This record gives sequence, structure tokens and C-alpha cells, in this order.
Amino acid sequence: MSLVRMTVFCKDSTVRRNKKLFILILIGFVVYLVYRIARNPLHGYIRNIDRSLIDGHEISYFREKMVNNATFFSHIMSHQDFLHPDSKSAMEIYLRKQSQSFVFDLKDLVTDVGFNIEDDVIVYLHIQKTSGTSFNHHLVEDLELDKPCDCPHDVITNPCYCFTRKNTIWLFSWFTTGWPCGLHADWTELHECIDGALDQIEKQHRKRRYFYITILRDPVDRYLSEWRHLFDGQHWRDALLRCEGQRPSLFDLRPCFREKTWEGVSFEEFMECQDNLATNRMTRMLADLTKSKCYHKRGIKEKDRRIIMLESAKEDLRKMVFFGLTEDYNHSKALFEHAFGLKFKKGLNVSKLEPEEKFYLNEIQFREMLRYVELDVQLYLYAKNLFMQRSKQIQ
Ligand SMILES: *[C@@H]1O[C@H](CO)[C@@H](O)[C@H](O)[C@H]1NC(C)=O
Ligand SMILES: *[C@@H]1O[C@H](CO)[C@@H](O)[C@H](O)[C@H]1NC(C)=O
Ligand SMILES: *[C@@H]1O[C@H](CO)[C@@H](O)[C@H](O)[C@H]1NC(C)=O
Repeated sequence: MSLVRMTVFCKDSTVRRNKKLFILILIGFVVYLVYRIARNPLHGYIRNIDRSLIDGHEISYFREKMVNNATFFSHIMSHQDFLHPDSKSAMEIYLRKQSQSFVFDLKDLVTDVGFNIEDDVIVYLHIQKTSGTSFNHHLVEDLELDKPCDCPHDVITNPCYCFTRKNTIWLFSWFTTGWPCGLHADWTELHECIDGALDQIEKQHRKRRYFYITILRDPVDRYLSEWRHLFDGQHWRDALLRCEGQRPSLFDLRPCFREKTWEGVSFEEFMECQDNLATNRMTRMLADLTKSKCYHKRGIKEKDRRIIMLESAKEDLRKMVFFGLTEDYNHSKALFEHAFGLKFKKGLNVSKLEPEEKFYLNEIQFREMLRYVELDVQLYLYAKNLFMQRSKQIQ
């Protein structure tokens, strides 16, 4: 009898203890949630909705107004809170179409490296929505080579390993090798993986000189174009995003959508996704992410991460003997030919770019968008100036 009472008592007390524990966990969880929300200045809900501003304009309307109307410019900028200390002044230069000069070492301007096609490798870091596919077509189809690439018509689904006479690979790109380092592999992923990937394709181990190249595009056009791409139901969810050999955890990088695609996503929803990889994509993909704790959210302040990431992207860009600009294929062509001592058979031609005029934004959307390209705007100003100085150097 007493034994039964004893067990009942014991059960009772465990239930009570469990309840306490449950409440404690619940409180902890709520505190954690509040902390996360408060700590996150990028929680991009559109504020102060003013219905009179909902009607959209083409992006060119804003570009012009930014240049011509100082009141409007101040109005847009007064609502901005950027995380990087230099973003505000960079944004002014970018939006008001001023120019900015940077000081470069001569070694960053002299890009003729004595490329040897049989031993060296050009690594094309393909950043999404920069006209990179057009450029890739030019690389495999239009260069004058001793041994042309001989790609099948549909290179997109058939990698066409461009071998040299020595059976080495001189071009690492989507069309020639596919994505052995992951879909649209970035600087960090490529550096960790490329030796092994090429050893495997060439079936030999050897020392190679790698020359990274890329194409950059106006950050606002690129961001809008990426939204459009997702809106149309396409995506790059299979990207591996490896850094120090690891893929980001779900805690560090939450997916923007759980369905198969993000088709029909509104521009607001696109911007509000906290871990959207479209945000400052060019900077992230060019930076050595191991310098800023990879994708880990803990252990680094968001502001510090941005400063380190941008510096790293600039440094990596300087080290590239060639990078092109979507907006200036003519000079891009000349710079490529100079750097590698190769010639294109014809002028380069950007095709299939989304015309920016397709997008209609209202003032709030335009204003909000600037926060998601703050680093890319800085990187782009820097790249444009370096591009111009390099072009002058080869004239
Ligand atoms: C400049 O912009 C302000 C704020 O949007 C607007 O009130 C004003 O009419 C504009 N001025 C001109 C000349 O367009
Ligand atoms: C680029 O070069 C082509 C000829 O190759 C020329 O027709 C075109 O006008 C040039 N574009 C610019 C923007 O200079
Ligand atoms: C540029 O590309 C478009 C579409 O691919 C093509 O119709 C046009 O002829 C090309 N122009 C040149 C100069 O190659």
C-alpha cells in the first residue's frame, strides 16, 4: 500500500519537475527569439508605408531623379541605415553618378602575365546574372586558338573539356568543365577545390598557375535581375557554398523558400529574406570567406564581417589579371586579350540580359533595395576605377 503511494508521489513530483523545466525552456526560447529579432537590424520589413508611393516607376526614373534632384536624393538617403561605415558616401557617388579615384600599385595595373595555354589555367568565377553565360560562349567559341574547343552546339548540357595539345585543360568554366567545385562556385570554394578537381579531369597531378577571371555588373541591375530570375521560378539552391570544407548549417543560412521554387515572389518578400544570397552577392563571391568566419553567425559582428569581406573582395579583384564589366564589353575584350595574349575573332556581344526597364519599383522599394547592395556598390565603384586605369595602361 505504502509502496503504491510512494510511486504516485514520485510520479507527481517528476511531473511537477518536468513542468518547471518546460516553462524554463519556454522562457529561454522566448528570450532567445526576442534577442534574435532585436539584434538583427536587417530585419527588412518595409516601414512607413505611404500608399501614395505605391505606383511604380522604371529604374531609370530613379537614376535620373537621383542625379537631378538633390532634395529627392537627400530624402532617400535620410532613411538609410547601412552597416558598413563607407556605404553612405559610396552610395552618394554611385547614385549621383560622380566618379571616384582609387590609388593602385603599378603591379595591379600591369596585367600581361605571359600566359602559357599548355601549362596555365584560366578559372572563370561566374557570378550569377552578370552576363556570364554570354561571356562563356565567347570564350569557348570565339577565341583564336591552335586547338579550338570543339564544343557541341548545346554546351550548356554538354561540358566540352577544352584540352590543349598536351592534353591539359586551360579553361575552367561552366561550359568546359561543368561545376566540379559546386554550382556557381565562389572564390572560397574554388580555392579549396580546384587542384583536386583538375587532377581528376586531367588524370594527372601537376603544378598549375591559376588565373581567376570574372565579370561584374552594375549592382542594382544585377540584384533586380536575380529577383526576376527567382520570380520566373529558377534558382541555384543546389549551390554548395562550402567554406573550410563545410556547408553552412541551417542555423547560419536559412533557405528563403521551402517550396520547389520561389516562383512569383514579390520584390518585398525577396528583400525581406534575411539570408538571401542575392544580398551583396558579388562581394561575397569574390571574398575569401575564411577571413570572416565563413557563414557562421556566431563569433563575428555583422558590421565587422562586412568590412572584412569587402576588403578581401577588393584584394582578390586586384589580383585578378582580368575582370570584365557587363556594361563595357569592348574594353573588357581588349583587357582580356592583353592579359592573356589571346585574340577574339569578333566583337563581344552581351545577349539575353534582362533589360532593366522591365522593372517597376516604387520609392519605398527603391530605397529599401539599396541596403542589400551596399557592399556591391562599393566594390563596383572600386572595380570600375581599376578597370578604367587598366584600360588606360594598355592604350
Ligand atoms: C524633387 O524631389 C522632391 C521630393 O521628392 C519633390 O517634392 C520636388 O518636386 C522635386 N523637384 C523637381 C524639380 O522635380
Ligand atoms: C563596341 O565595339 C563595336 C565594334 O566592335 C562598336 O560597333 C560599338 O559601337 C562599340 N560600343 C561602344 C559602347 O563603344
Ligand atoms: C549579338 O547577339 C545577338 C543574339 O544572340 C545576335 O542576334 C547578334 O547578331 C549578335 N551581334 C553580333 C555583332 O555578334
